[in-house]
Amino acid sequence: GVHAVVEFSEKECIAALQDGTRILSTNHESTVPFKTRLLTLRFNHPGDQAAAQMSVKCLKQSTIPINELIQKLSSVDSIDQQVDLLTREYQLTEENIRLRFLVCSLLKDIAAAYFPESSVKPFGSSVNTFGKLGCDLDMFLDLDGNSGRKVGKTAGPYILEYQMKQVSSERMVTQSILSVIGECIDQFGPGCVGVQKILNARCPLVRFSHQPSGFQCDLTANNRIAMRSSELLYVYGSLDPRVRALVFSVRCWARVHGLTSSIPGAWITNFSLTMMVLFFLQRRSSPIIPTLDQLKSLAGTDGKCIIEGHDCTFVTNLSKITLPENTDTPGQLLQEFFEFYGNFTFSKNSINIRKGKEQNKPEASPLHIQNPFEQSLNVSKNVNQTQLEKFVTLARDSAWTLQQNEVSHPSGTHPWGLAALLLPSVSQTAGKNKNKRKRQPASERIKSLLDSIKASKVTKTTDVFCKSAKKKSL
Ligand code: GTP
Ligand code: MG
Repeated sequence: GVHAVVEFSEKECIAALQDGTRILSTNHESTVPFKTRLLTLRFNHPGDQAAAQMSVKCLKQSTIPINELIQKLSSVDSIDQQVDLLTREYQLTEENIRLRFLVCSLLKDIAAAYFPESSVKPFGSSVNTFGKLGCDLDMFLDLDGNSGRKVGKTAGPYILEYQMKQVSSERMVTQSILSVIGECIDQFGPGCVGVQKILNARCPLVRFSHQPSGFQCDLTANNRIAMRSSELLYVYGSLDPRVRALVFSVRCWARVHGLTSSIPGAWITNFSLTMMVLFFLQRRSSPIIPTLDQLKSLAGTDGKCIIEGHDCTFVTNLSKITLPENTDTPGQLLQEFFEFYGNFTFSKNSINIRKGKEQNKPEASPLHIQNPFEQSLNVSKNVNQTQLEKFVTLARDSAWTLQQNEVSHPSGTHPWGLAALLLPSVSQTAGKNKNKRKRQPASERIKSLLDSIKASKVTKTTDVFCKSAKKKSL
């Protein structure tokens, strides 16, 4: 259906609107007496519809199909323009971001039944500048107002304390809160369907679909480091437009070729891919973005932040960051990204955006990307050798394809440049020209799938972030 987000300038207007709104009437079903700020606008009499002559301009909330995108990309003149076009087509719109904040505030209304001082905040790709239309909505239930972490003022010889229930671990608190809120969402949340409580994951969460907005939602609690990671990505994404352009292109390329997946397993995640792009941009001879340590050294008191003993300090005031001159074009960066990782010594080196330099791998995982804040963790621990090899092969093929188009590109709408990379199998295009690579035999493909499933079982017991391979759109 058609939905509108309506903002009011006066609170009284909302009260007046609510006064004039009636309870949903149905003939057959009973209604849970929980009202939300999601209202349905219907015609009073069937005949009114024709008379209303409404003309509604709808803003798009989803991406165009991949074949249409390929056609569009093929009709522009340069790879730079293709990268730019892809970003514009895929990025979240202002309205879509507002809708995400609205859904968070609707969830807050439910959580407030138990925890009046709580708030629900979006994080992840909804707000980190790398969100694509249709990406999931990651939400953080912030209970700091209730948790007693704030130290109250003391007066005289007395201390006043709230009576609060004591439980043996922070994790148990998170699990029981999410369990209850998840139940509430399931029983009373208007438009919330398919509620799953995934409480035993490293980071417990409640997953559900919010039907009116069409968002797939993940609600977490006690997840401050992920919130902080989103802020860091936001800083990087805002520093230079080429950062977002490259992240969008690489994420899209990875999705088309099945390097990322909606099924949990040994696949690379979008978060890991983003780290790889950031690292590559730090490694340019004239770096396009600073290292995390440099961002830390620029932080004033506002950027200081320690979470659960981890130093998450970095500057948040963008005007304090000066960048060296760099004139690399987006197309050039895309090609060199593929060359860089096509030749990267994954067997020895770890990717580390804190230092902006390769480090010796501290453990044997095929792909090692140091978690920027929890530095002893590897964000890509779930990735197996088969998936890494697939990534490297595709990266090499893609570098080669882009190189060919740099020299000359076919006229008309024949897919070329970035469009050619987004065709379902780049190896077929490259193979035609190079006559070098053959399609993997079916037995190999099945083996690789089995390996991925096995690895996903291992992942459950590792330190990898709980959602490292969850549903992803791009
Ligand atoms: P998409 O949902 O795929 O568009 O991207 P996303 O960035 O939102 O990823 P996801 O929903 O998987 O995770 C949400 C946020 O959690 C990320 O932006 C990160 O801040 C954080 N996160 C996800 N995976 C990891 C991980 O492996 N390690 C750490 N430290 N944080 C992670
Ligand atoms: Mg997400």
